[in-house]
Amino acid sequence: GATNMVQPIAAQPLADSGAAIRTATVLFGSQTGNAEKLAEKLCAQLSQAGFVPTLQDMGSYKPRQLKRENYLFVIVSTHGEGDPPDNAEAFHEFLHSKKAPKLDGLQFSVLALGDSSYEYFCKTGKDFDTRLEELGGKRFSQRADCDVDYDDAADAWIDGILQALSKQLDTPAVVAVSPAVATQATASSYSRKNPFSATLLENLRITGRGSSKDVRHIELSLEGSQLSFEPGDSLGVVPSNCPELVAEFIEVSGLDPRAIVTNGKGEDTTLEDALSHGYEITTITRPFLEKYATLVESRELGRLLQEENRSQLRNFIHGREVIDVIRGFPLPGITANQFVGLLRKLPPRLYSIASSYQANPDEVHLTVAVVRYQSHGRSRKGVATTFLSERVPEDGTVPVYVDSNKNFRLPEDLNAPLVMIGPGTGVAPFRAFLEEREIAGAKGKNWLFFGDRHFHTDFLYQREWLDYRKKGVLTRIDVAFSRDEEKKTYVQHRMLENSRELYAWLEEGAYFYVCGDAEYMAPDVHEALLAIVEKEGCVSREKAVEYMRDLQQGRRYQRDVY
Ligand code: 2AM
Repeated sequence: GATNMVQPIAAQPLADSGAAIRTATVLFGSQTGNAEKLAEKLCAQLSQAGFVPTLQDMGSYKPRQLKRENYLFVIVSTHGEGDPPDNAEAFHEFLHSKKAPKLDGLQFSVLALGDSSYEYFCKTGKDFDTRLEELGGKRFSQRADCDVDYDDAADAWIDGILQALSKQLDTPAVVAVSPAVATQATASSYSRKNPFSATLLENLRITGRGSSKDVRHIELSLEGSQLSFEPGDSLGVVPSNCPELVAEFIEVSGLDPRAIVTNGKGEDTTLEDALSHGYEITTITRPFLEKYATLVESRELGRLLQEENRSQLRNFIHGREVIDVIRGFPLPGITANQFVGLLRKLPPRLYSIASSYQANPDEVHLTVAVVRYQSHGRSRKGVATTFLSERVPEDGTVPVYVDSNKNFRLPEDLNAPLVMIGPGTGVAPFRAFLEEREIAGAKGKNWLFFGDRHFHTDFLYQREWLDYRKKGVLTRIDVAFSRDEEKKTYVQHRMLENSRELYAWLEEGAYFYVCGDAEYMAPDVHEALLAIVEKEGCVSREKAVEYMRDLQQGRRYQRDVY
């Protein structure tokens, strides 16, 4: 997406003006673009404060430059099991290697983005923060760790930097009044904080009878919103919690559902409304447990939260939700406001968009696996997936916004070949890719790898792929059904079986995309691709790693994994 705000400004020597050279580098590591947007915002404010900021993507940052930095601001997100974003990986590794230079004289501050429902919350940001100090840098403003709902914490971090700078440089602060910097590339006024009510047009189960999964094809109308998107973007869905669970919370707490509390956005509302729309009441996060343990003075919980008991904590959280904690460790009499104060704001959920805007103007399609399971003697439901599939409000609309992802994009070159790895609902964005390529008349070859459990019940969008094959839009499709035979076959096995051809596509300039599970699938697919490059390119492991890095730097290896 084209943002019309800050142009990255090259550091220019101001020597002839006689003024001190106030250069600063803002370095971002971003998977979907949030860290980048915040980096742009910081740059804009540094410029206003009389600095000459340089906006830098970690992916193309030359580590040699480090020793020349004056002020370094790092904004970086964390993914999966504490991993850096793809574009930050090489720099993260370099900084932690023996090759990293001494950085005396460097002044730095880190903004860490993350999700507190993951064990390694903000780990990449913490790594940078610790390491820059180890290398001799001076932390001149404290690191901030932001949860999914990062806006306020990020603004506070930026203001903190501007304050510290003005103190250090003894100039009046040009701070605070954070200027309203547009961060949405779209012309629409709808955003995360002001979602659009999209009418539900379709909610179709696309897994067959007898499938172990309930996968829905969802279509929503964007008519009148002026929202648009590109293939690769995600749709943010702002869900509500399940009313039965809300009722149980109220019952267990013994509080009055009409008690007045803050809704997390600084407005007053009833406890019932806040628990329905304002707060997350399912996922257990560490900050929640910490507050809870203090409140109930539970030694058992306290012990679980100790650093050395990480694996016990993981076991405890597994299959449990907030309700289990509240039932297991009864609350003393607390006020309704104290009660909601334990919870984090209900974050919106992101879904990779499954349709092309060009092909279906004013519509957006999603592929959603409905989450329902049993654990510790209770039935559980995923918040947003059951909201979409069974709890759409009476007016038939769902609050949504577009979350652009500039790191998952079709090549501009219509002739470039694509290889797409999309098992399960990971296939969603590739439906969008093919729709877009068809309507754009792209001549490039397209190869899709799809996998799921059973051919008969789980071959998502089978007819559409076969149509695309007939029309020649899809050049090849290889499928792996993992539970039809004794031996499990996954997409990476199909890749390995077609190793020579896959390598030939890469050598022809193919773009390689992976979407779906981040924990097991994406690393396994990565490993398979490495093995293919090693074997077919007849190169060493190191050279294969380099080959993959070059692909990634050339934006020919892009992932949307979660
Ligand atoms: P499974 O459920 O039989 O283990 C979509 O969910 C498909 O991805 C399923 O066929 C699932 O198989 C498969 N899958 C599970 N783990 C995987 C992995 N590590 N790599 C690739 N596919 C995997």
